[in-house]
Amino acid sequence: MAYHLLKGKRGIIFGALDEKSIAWKVAEKAVEEGASIVLSNAPIALRMGKINELAKACNAEVIPADATSVEDLEKLLSKSMELLGGPLDFVLHSIGMSPNVRKKIPYTDTNYDNFQKTIDVSALSFHKVLQTAWKLDALSEWASVVGLSYIAAQRTFPGYNDMAEAKALLESIARSFGFHYGNRKKVRVNTVSQSPTLTTAGSGVEGFNGFYHYAEKMSPLGNAGAEDCAAFCVALFSDLTRKVTMQNLFHDGGFSNTGVSQAVIEGVEA
Ligand SMILES: NC(=O)c1ccc[n+]([C@@H]2O[C@H](COP(=O)([O-])OP(=O)(O)OC[C@H]3O[C@@H](n4cnc5c(N)ncnc54)[C@H](O)[C@@H]3O)[C@@H](O)[C@H]2O)c1
Repeated sequence: MAYHLLKGKRGIIFGALDEKSIAWKVAEKAVEEGASIVLSNAPIALRMGKINELAKACNAEVIPADATSVEDLEKLLSKSMELLGGPLDFVLHSIGMSPNVRKKIPYTDTNYDNFQKTIDVSALSFHKVLQTAWKLDALSEWASVVGLSYIAAQRTFPGYNDMAEAKALLESIARSFGFHYGNRKKVRVNTVSQSPTLTTAGSGVEGFNGFYHYAEKMSPLGNAGAEDCAAFCVALFSDLTRKVTMQNLFHDGGFSNTGVSQAVIEGVEA
């Protein structure tokens, strides 16, 4: 059911690769709620993914941008304002990649060039999006910017590797930039810390299946899926959450505040 929460709003959605992507679901939901959007992803992902299918369904243009390139981001933001007819009301940063995770390099044998790439793609890109928008004055008053995070920013999940550091930095950037952008233009900046979700990025993490089921058994409401996440992001883009900023919001069925559950105890009892 649609509530027209984003009627007349303009936004950019980064990171839709295929129909499992969280960004894919957010794009569909945002359009269902009345928004006009531009889709963006890295040039290589555009070649490999199915984004054109989504673009068709959402009546959206696709503009390639490597989120680590300020030049690409400048072009993307300028072109999006032109296409959509004005400054943007919301942005979703749904971008993550670690070469160390991809190559299954153990955390205790981290390759530092890879580590820098992880940080650049998964965290600094959030700062770059915000700073580029700031310089181009590309966001409207009360605009809402959301980045996707994971609880490994606060607690150790060994298979998550150097993505844990990237997420800690991502959340910190939301607080720091949220302060400046709030002061300047009432722009909100938050991160959503999502349950493990069956996507390309998610299933690349070592032991993903195990902790997906563990989180499901721990969380009183069960894991939050990609569609639930999309609904929450849309709420954050809407005018109903205007005073929420600089937060890391757990969207995880209660996992983050649960010490242990009966289902988990039963699984380990001798
Ligand atoms: N899947 C999970 O379990 C889970 C849980 C919590 C948070 N998240 C976060 O959600 C976000 C989306 O991931 P997903 O699970 O939907 O997986 P996904 O693989 O569908 O999305 C990741 C996206 O990042 C894009 N990307 C990678 N490098 C890029 C670059 N240089 N420039 C622009 N885009 C680039 C990819 O092309 C891809 O579309 C990520 O930040 C991820 O860390 C995922």
